[in-house]
Amino acid sequence: MADQAVSHSHAPAYPWWLQPFATVVILSAFVVYSIWAALQGRGYVAPYLSPFYSPPVSFRGIPISPAFWVVWVPAGFRATCYYYRKAYFRSFFRDPVSCMIPESRAQYAGETKLPFILNNLHRYMLYLAVIVLAFLWRDTFDAFFFNGQFGVHLGSLLFLVNVLLLSGYTFGCHALRHLVGGNLDCFSCARGGRVRYRFWQWVNPLNYRHAFWAWASLFSVSFVDIYIRLLLAGAITDPRLF
Ligand code: FES
Repeated sequence: MADQAVSHSHAPAYPWWLQPFATVVILSAFVVYSIWAALQGRGYVAPYLSPFYSPPVSFRGIPISPAFWVVWVPAGFRATCYYYRKAYFRSFFRDPVSCMIPESRAQYAGETKLPFILNNLHRYMLYLAVIVLAFLWRDTFDAFFFNGQFGVHLGSLLFLVNVLLLSGYTFGCHALRHLVGGNLDCFSCARGGRVRYRFWQWVNPLNYRHAFWAWASLFSVSFVDIYIRLLLAGAITDPRLF
């Protein structure tokens, strides 16, 4: 009876299929929206540069939206993320639906074949994502200056929230946690152990809530781009707060 009481107390208050269904809907919508936004070819309204278009890259004579030169980095970073892998393997492929349910395939090949073998590139995507994140921080700084004057508009705050969420997501990465604290039995015995221990302590709380940062930053990055598109279309104005 006691065991039953414990297991019931952990049962979710919603149907089991709701979570994978929501994952499929939200991730599909995000992919479709990202492709659409990248195809627009424009992502700037002073002083805001869409995160899909940062850093701005273009090559003369090549008629490709500037977003396509950069958006593969955050896209690849998310697609190979350990958390998202769990989410999309379970929800899109039912492979498996959850920990207690057997594999749906007769033979499990792991991530040893294309395209999923590319998931092993995650740590390299992390290095590139950190570079892109640095540009996003610069864009956020620029979002507080209007014709050279400091000001705080609604868009400025959206940029700040977005880059904080993206930083929480990036610096809570499992690969980063392994980089600073992995392969060690003893911090104090290792070269640079004190610094690594300090970094490891910073990464841990972010890593513990990695799913939160993953979803929150997914929404914020979309929302910032939508805000910029509404400004570009003249559908809204950008209110000054201070
Ligand atoms: Fe999710 Fe690296 S594990 S970003």
